[in-house]
Amino acid sequence: MTSDSIGYYTGSIEETHAAAREDVLALGEFGAWIGSESRSADSGEEFATLDPVVGEEICSVPQCTATDVDAAVKAAQEAFDGGWGACSPQERSNAMLSWVATLRENVGDLALVESLDGGKPLKHALVETKYALDFLEYYAKVVQADEGITVPTDDDMHVYTRHEPHGVVGLITPWNFPLTISFWKLGPALAAGNAAVIKPAEQTPLSMLYAAELSKDILPDGTLNVVTGFGEEAGAPLTEHAAVGKVSFTGEDVTGKTVMKAAAETVTAVTLELGGKSPYVVFPSADVKKAVRDVAHGIFYNAGQSCDACSRVLVHEDIAEEFTEGLVARAEGLTPGDTLVEGTTVGPLISADQFEKVTDYVEIGREEGATCVTGGAVEDGDLTDGWYVRPTVLTDVDNDMRVAQEEIFGPVEVITTFETYDEAIELANDVEFGLAAGVATENTTLAHRAAADIEAGSVWINGNYATPIPGGPFGGYKQSGIGRECSRDALRHFTQEKAVHVALDEPSL
Ligand code: NAI
Ligand code: MG
Repeated sequence: MTSDSIGYYTGSIEETHAAAREDVLALGEFGAWIGSESRSADSGEEFATLDPVVGEEICSVPQCTATDVDAAVKAAQEAFDGGWGACSPQERSNAMLSWVATLRENVGDLALVESLDGGKPLKHALVETKYALDFLEYYAKVVQADEGITVPTDDDMHVYTRHEPHGVVGLITPWNFPLTISFWKLGPALAAGNAAVIKPAEQTPLSMLYAAELSKDILPDGTLNVVTGFGEEAGAPLTEHAAVGKVSFTGEDVTGKTVMKAAAETVTAVTLELGGKSPYVVFPSADVKKAVRDVAHGIFYNAGQSCDACSRVLVHEDIAEEFTEGLVARAEGLTPGDTLVEGTTVGPLISADQFEKVTDYVEIGREEGATCVTGGAVEDGDLTDGWYVRPTVLTDVDNDMRVAQEEIFGPVEVITTFETYDEAIELANDVEFGLAAGVATENTTLAHRAAADIEAGSVWINGNYATPIPGGPFGGYKQSGIGRECSRDALRHFTQEKAVHVALDEPSL
């Protein structure tokens, strides 16, 4: 399958996944990508990446440690010094666009890898892969229009700015949107002239490794390096490495704080995109059907494993019953299934750990006094080898409960009611996170007022919840992070600005 048509599989769940595993393994070597070569870890150690639908190993990949990270940083430094850092934006742009073209030619295969490793419905994996590529392309193009400034001053001086790359940058990504988040970071990093070392999440290393193999002979050797491994063994050395000039991390808030502390040792710049507990406020003036549709997508897509999932609904008490009935009906209409067959839109959670965490939270909610109206673990049928949780809705939730304050990272919606505008905003802001928010109302003034009053990096009004677009900044207020991705400005975060002051003497010939 090399076109962008989806090659669905048929047969029992064991048959479809065995066939897909074979197809994936035929695509590449899946070694660590260092200096544009596929390599083993220096120690020779490997670890398994699993297929979350059947709970079985797909293949093993190198378990990199500080030695391998060091080799990758050296390869990146050589690429940077060897020309990537100094070539024109046009040349970099051309190289990136060639890579994008090759990735697009193989988009069906990339999506298959992403689907199998991450337990994503194939159809969603394809949409996400194309979407991810749009960001690489966006940065390759936007860098061509990048400019510095001249600073007005008096006649005996000329002052202008240059935007210079950091050199080697370290990128650390999570498992929920492996390619998307990688390209959100690689796009601006490479376009700005940095060479990159990327460490994908240990649960989902395969798509980035395959994408890197497809950069062979297109990106100059060593420009892009991928080290696979665990957080403390392979991620931490990247954040501590003296030659890494910038770190961009997406993942859990607790890990983000560790990354920031490590970067502080060498005063390394960081971008952090961390967790969320994003509110979706449904006002009495909302089109309830439309709000139900948007909320269902915002919380149940990707089995709720999205940093910007709208994991708290705040609904006005007059329409709470209608809204809840609608959401429950929608949740019950989403049937978990084999990710590789046509029609499936609900896949499993990524891992046994995540399954345990999410099902524990449903229990915690019950103990705290919430009512589980629908959902819970899938307990029978042929999906029990995977980590499936049905779309779940908890009502009678008070904003002080743990299920309303902590990131569950699963398909679990919690519903709280409010009476007044002020109460809605107070509840919306009463969490330590501030990544995103949704607002549903047909009253335009109210919509803009709420968008201004809610403390969040992104607000979606009346639809398209949680889909950042190329050019639209994405990032968090409060403990949801530092810096922005996806926008033109992200190019700035991958450069340092230099002011050059030139003394202009009296002309003498
Ligand atoms: P994590 O934050 O540990 O993992 C994200 C990435 O950081 C992975 O590549 C990991 O190997 C790396 N990492 C871990 N420790 C590191 C360290 N000390 N230094 C450098 N890199 C390190 O998240 P994890 O354990 O996969 O998931 C735990 C919870 O985090 C989830 O249940 C979910 O609530 C949340 N999460 C949030 C995400 C988001 O996008 N906001 C994404 C993934 C997880
Ligand atoms: Mg996996």
